[in-house]
Amino acid sequence: MWRVFLLLTLSWAVTANITGQHPKSGTCMCISGTGVHARTKAGLSGSIHATVNSGDCFKFHGGILTTDGYTWYQLQHVSGSENLWVAGNFINTATSSHCSSTSSGSGGCTATAKDYACRILAMHNSGKIHLWERHPSGVHDNAYSYNNIKDTCDGHKATVSHYTCAECRSPGAPGGQVCLNEQLLKYIYDVGVKGYAHINEVAGACHSCHSYHYRGRAVDIDPGSRRSDFITMCRNHGGWALDEGNHIHCEFRH
Ligand SMILES: *[C@@H]1O[C@H](CO)[C@@H](O)[C@H](O)[C@H]1NC(C)=O
Repeated sequence: MWRVFLLLTLSWAVTANITGQHPKSGTCMCISGTGVHARTKAGLSGSIHATVNSGDCFKFHGGILTTDGYTWYQLQHVSGSENLWVAGNFINTATSSHCSSTSSGSGGCTATAKDYACRILAMHNSGKIHLWERHPSGVHDNAYSYNNIKDTCDGHKATVSHYTCAECRSPGAPGGQVCLNEQLLKYIYDVGVKGYAHINEVAGACHSCHSYHYRGRAVDIDPGSRRSDFITMCRNHGGWALDEGNHIHCEFRH
């Protein structure tokens, strides 16, 4: 990871580096680089709660701190509602239009997605379905199915996990954020309308390296007593279903 970090520092130095600048809070800032670490604290000891990439833009939250050889800028809502710190070497300032989709409350995702997410969250809160608040791996992050749905309902992108597993030893789950697919959310909602369901994972956890989960286009549901129902409903919604034994996987490729 260190090698990647240094490489990016060099290759992006010409286009991105706001080190030394003191922009106003609310200034739109865009990432320049791939797999850039966003940390909970300024400094290399701050834990990495998200990885961000070129094209991801966030409003500046106001914090600037120089430590460990870098000047760190605090960006808003990088991971759901979390404000995280990114080294200035990987940041450009941008016109506010690059951040306007976030301020309109949709996180750049569709209003329909937000609407379904809020309805799913309401079902969770009333006990009609259960959105899991853990990963089978035991890894703690902001990408549990509960977080994904709550963040989408709150107008943010859903967080993707960032860790490795046997199914994808390298590079592992990629991290970052993603808009959840509308059809996927409609499927989860309709599953809940028909009866109780336990939603294991949406964009979170580590799966095979090219998993549709990382694109916000797949869900894993505990089969309970509705195994064939979940598979049939997935197909009827235009999805592709796979019975993986301890869960039903349903993905939406288009
Ligand atoms: C970024 O800019 C600062 C201040 O101008 C400078 O000291 C630093 O060397 C630059 N870093 C890179 C990687 O270009």
